Amino acid sequence: MNILLLGSGGREHALAWKLAGSSLCSSLFIAPGNAGTAQCGTNVDLSPVDFEGVRKFCSKQKIGMVIVGPEEPLVKGIVDFFATDPDLQHIPVIGPSGKGALLEGSKAFSKKFMERHQIPTASYREFSTANFSEGITYLQQHSLPIVLKADGLAAGKGVVICQNHIEAVAEFELMLQGNKFGEAGSKVVVEEFLYGIEMSVFVLTDGRHYVVLPEAKDYKRVGEGDKGPNTGGMGAVSPVPFADEVFMSKITQRIIVPTVEGLAKEDIDYKGFIFIGIIKVGEEPYVIEYNCRMGDPETEVVMPRLKNDLAELFLAVAEQRLDKVKIEMDPRICCTIVAVSGGYPGSYEKGLPITGLEEPLPEDSLIFHAGTRMEKGEVLTNGGRVLCVSSFAETVYEAVDKSRDVLEKINYEGIYYRRDIGYEFL
Ligand code: AMP
Ligand code: GLY
Repeated sequence: MNILLLGSGGREHALAWKLAGSSLCSSLFIAPGNAGTAQCGTNVDLSPVDFEGVRKFCSKQKIGMVIVGPEEPLVKGIVDFFATDPDLQHIPVIGPSGKGALLEGSKAFSKKFMERHQIPTASYREFSTANFSEGITYLQQHSLPIVLKADGLAAGKGVVICQNHIEAVAEFELMLQGNKFGEAGSKVVVEEFLYGIEMSVFVLTDGRHYVVLPEAKDYKRVGEGDKGPNTGGMGAVSPVPFADEVFMSKITQRIIVPTVEGLAKEDIDYKGFIFIGIIKVGEEPYVIEYNCRMGDPETEVVMPRLKNDLAELFLAVAEQRLDKVKIEMDPRICCTIVAVSGGYPGSYEKGLPITGLEEPLPEDSLIFHAGTRMEKGEVLTNGGRVLCVSSFAETVYEAVDKSRDVLEKINYEGIYYRRDIGYEFL
């Protein structure tokens, strides 16, 4: 089968690496990909949101399956585009319909969905310009801190945690009246702040059944000790030491089952990943957010630990027979460290040559490219997050140590990475 994978980050390199190892995959294409995905298949100069371009490419290359990495094409309805096109209908697309992608694409939708299905989450209210002054009164009486969320996709910047009421009101005004996040901020969710430790749970569903993939914890802050601004993710660990059997079974019963059943009951077509951001409050799990895709950099630890053939898993999704599938995981610990461009998550330079990638790798380490591109035989930086080094070991300490060793041999101007990924588990 010829497979087309959409996206260009570390997540897509990890997915491409895993797909390239599948006996079902004859040719793998990645659009647009990066310098790393080019080692697993053929990169195609095509944007994941250019649906017409994707359509033409699928016909020309006789694509038998499409896997969507990032959220944007899903929220823009790529699954519906395929489902309603006579020439594309027969091609399974791994990812939810536009309606299903609203779990990520609209915070208001996802909160209402959780409310309808009694899924534990922070209490909230939704506001728009229509009930703006009611919102101000609500904010002024709200306990601190206050969480404000722009409703739509805001490139990971739409959540603001306010420590006092003046800041909360100012932020609320900026979102609803100042157009801070454009259309994405035309509705705002005001939410109770939950105290706890976070983790990511990954569910793959065929719309009727589901499997749970290895869980992970990611490190979002740029600085060591979880300080400084939020990023796309600076590293990840899997498994998560505090996610024991009891906690995971609470997540399954209270969150995963009602989510999958809720989607089915509401007739929402969903054949793809559900990424559930969990916060552990005391001993109880709450949903912080849903995403309609895999996490990045979590995928860079989840895919190495997953022993199943990924293309076979996706075929089981398309044919709605995930109930026949058993997930097998590597019991070892996998950690990934993300090397970023100097200045990230603020402004940074691109196009800087990367050296040291040709050094021989230890047997249990892998390099996944994120923001890289190839030019005249040279690998150059091409984004904020540049590459991820994932390593296996028996302990978090050893796994992080191995990845750091690999990173020490890699260089580009301004290279930065956190040396303390997994620090709470050492
Ligand atoms: P999101 O963009 O939805 O991933 O939110 C970004 C981050 O904001 C989350 O990973 C949490 O760390 C934090 N956050 C979101 N909602 C809450 C909440 N209700 N209580 C505490 N922290 C939150
Ligand atoms: N690592 C968090 C995310 O992918 O959204």
